[in-house]
Amino acid sequence: MAEALRIGIAGLGTVGASVVRCMTEKEAELTRQCGRAIALTAVSARDRNRDRGIDIGNAHWFDDPVDLARTAGIDVFVELIGGDSGAAFDAVKAALQAGRHVVTANKALLSKHGVELAAIAEEKGVLLNYEAAVAGGIPVIKTMRESLAGNTVSRVFGIMNGTANYILTRMEAEGLSFEDCLREAQRLGYAEADPTFDIEGHDTAHKLSILTSLAFGCRISADDIYLEGISNITQADIRAASELGYRIKLLGVAQRTESGIEQRVHPTMVPTQSVIAQVHGVTNAVAIETDILGELLLSGPGAGGNATASAVIGDIADIAKSRPGFQHGPVFGRPAKKLVPYKRARMRAHAGGYFIRMTVHDRAGVFAAIAKRMANNDISLESIVQHADGGLPEDQKNVILVTHETTEAAVRKAVDGVMQDGHLVDKPQVIRIERAA
Ligand SMILES: NC(=O)c1ccc[n+]([C@@H]2O[C@H](COP(=O)([O-])OP(=O)(O)OC[C@H]3O[C@@H](n4cnc5c(N)ncnc54)[C@H](OP(=O)(O)O)[C@@H]3O)[C@@H](O)[C@H]2O)c1
Repeated sequence: MAEALRIGIAGLGTVGASVVRCMTEKEAELTRQCGRAIALTAVSARDRNRDRGIDIGNAHWFDDPVDLARTAGIDVFVELIGGDSGAAFDAVKAALQAGRHVVTANKALLSKHGVELAAIAEEKGVLLNYEAAVAGGIPVIKTMRESLAGNTVSRVFGIMNGTANYILTRMEAEGLSFEDCLREAQRLGYAEADPTFDIEGHDTAHKLSILTSLAFGCRISADDIYLEGISNITQADIRAASELGYRIKLLGVAQRTESGIEQRVHPTMVPTQSVIAQVHGVTNAVAIETDILGELLLSGPGAGGNATASAVIGDIADIAKSRPGFQHGPVFGRPAKKLVPYKRARMRAHAGGYFIRMTVHDRAGVFAAIAKRMANNDISLESIVQHADGGLPEDQKNVILVTHETTEAAVRKAVDGVMQDGHLVDKPQVIRIERAA
């Protein structure tokens, strides 16, 4: 049997401890599958004395993850520290430069430095595997990098944040407010004390930026993502969506258009009957639309120690099975040097259907004024209805519009016009509608 593959793990928190636990429990099975043992030989974390409920055996302890990354005593450096810079970046870079394979679950790091790190990995002829960085346990990276060879991707989109999906699911199922659902998610450990990163879409954006690069062969450009979170979604929106045959999801969408690539993260109306609308709670899902295959949807646990550990261990096993001297495939599907610059499509050019909810003063002429503003901007309406919604004062009404395909620019201009007309009680709610099978 080949020599054991020596693993060094930096970060023994939720994911790191699960990886160690699963590797210990599945040692014999992994050895059988990989044809060689996988041996934990070194670890690093901040607090050496913390009881983590795991057995690190005789693994050598390093206070500094960069020292661990460089040690000759490992073949694979597993980074499970987190963060887009500092210790995680320094250690991953040092490991690659020292010719070690790297496995990471760190979307923030890849979103910011992925192309630079990929170039080092490719120059050194080592692997940089990151399945766990996008949608946790769902094997979306391998699918896009390997299984879809030859396919041209037109769109990739998905539910990539369990916290946001949990909140939207409970809001719909139980009629609770966003604030109540967020508190409940925090109580159950599905949301951080500071939930901004999840509910305002930043976490989804990091993951989306990686998928965009894989889908379109371009450099990662997380700064070019249009971002809107879910904190202003109300029960009025959820109820109106439901009556119109839609469900609201926080989607990350990357799409090739005539003017460039759209990357956007925002609350989205998807048809209630679509497969992605059935993805509830903390579950994640990623849909990939290609010319040869059509639409593929992968769904499963997107976070949590074990789900993430499953992806990390899969990446380690791939390295264990790889043949020495064999040329590894490029990190983002094509060589880092050949990734083309990201060409951003302007958000104002986005084409699609829109849901617009306006709370108006209930007086004569309001409907006509709204319809006129829409018509003046060439917006064709699929429906315009007055929505009787409990909770509004007698002299106010919700008007709900659903448009046929139009542009973001037209919608913004029409909505600005309606606001100038003085019929609105507050700012209108505008939610994009996404085509989904
Ligand atoms: N949690 C999930 O469900 C999930 C899912 C997908 C991807 N990920 C990604 O996986 C990575 C780890 O996440 P996590 O939830 O496991 O984080 P975590 O529970 O906060 O664990 C972080 C670990 O890193 C260690 N650490 C922090 N700074 C360090 C330093 N300077 N040197 C050495 N060790 C250091 C900590 O040490 P101490 O324990 O001593 O403090 C801790 O063990 C992140 O990139 C995250 O985005 C997580």
